[in-house]
Amino acid sequence: MIIKILVLSSIILNLVLFFLLNKKKIKKYLHKNNIKEEDITKLHQSFELNEISKNLKGPKKEALIKSFSISSDNTIVGMTSEYEAWILSTLSKTSKNIFEFGTCSGKTTYLMALNSSEDTKITSLTLDPRNINKLERGNLDNKVSHRNIVNESIYEKFLFSGTDVEKKIDVIFENSLEFEHFAYKSKIDLIFIDGGHTYSVVKNDTEKSFEMIKPNGIILWHDYVPGKKSSKDIVKYLNKISKERKIYHIKNTSMCFFQNI
Ligand SMILES: C[S@@+](CC[C@H](N)C(=O)[O-])C[C@H]1O[C@@H](n2cnc3c(N)ncnc32)[C@H](O)[C@@H]1O
Repeated sequence: MIIKILVLSSIILNLVLFFLLNKKKIKKYLHKNNIKEEDITKLHQSFELNEISKNLKGPKKEALIKSFSISSDNTIVGMTSEYEAWILSTLSKTSKNIFEFGTCSGKTTYLMALNSSEDTKITSLTLDPRNINKLERGNLDNKVSHRNIVNESIYEKFLFSGTDVEKKIDVIFENSLEFEHFAYKSKIDLIFIDGGHTYSVVKNDTEKSFEMIKPNGIILWHDYVPGKKSSKDIVKYLNKISKERKIYHIKNTSMCFFQNI
């Protein structure tokens, strides 16, 4: 009897250990992407590589950018990865009208301003921190994402505040659910959807973006991470609409894209 219990406990212990060590892989397997994955070269020709030698390929000059790094000691919330930031910066180089849902620290806004041409206009829409207590959670909105909105809406200034490129940027402090987007209809070359991650906000920002985007323009969504709690509503919504719209997941990123062609 004791031997049986020991064997059973050892099997259970091994299973628990296996699960803990492979948590990420198991989650990834269980939450397979519904959206087709594509390489960034499908998104824009700037990302095609130059052959430097037989076994070495490197970026074209169109993909060279101005950048900066934020160390992990600097506790900025809601940031893009270095690779995602490079993609956004590169696309900004050929975009005259840029719109961002969700400013937060202003990291992406700053990068887009640093890399775009002098006459580019960047509009970033974000919640007014003074109105955070008025936020309501919709029926379909998950709790974690709703709570994160509050944590990501604490700011007095942005990373670009007081810099030379600030003049290109217009920050609108407004809830996107109330935002009148008609003045931007078919005018925007590049839209970055990275505001509230709740179902109601992602749906609202996406529907408005489809009307704001210019022919050939690009819409990018951040935080498409199947299996991650705070991305649950983004994944659910994008999986649903990708049945009707040509939306692709960019390989090795948490971003999805749509090109208005
Ligand atoms: C993830 S952060 C944005 C990060 C930023 N795009 C970056 O790359 O550095 C989310 C931002 O969305 C804003 N936000 C959340 N819900 C919103 C809403 N309903 N309307 C406007 N902004 C919203 C928050 O205030 C916060 O600034």
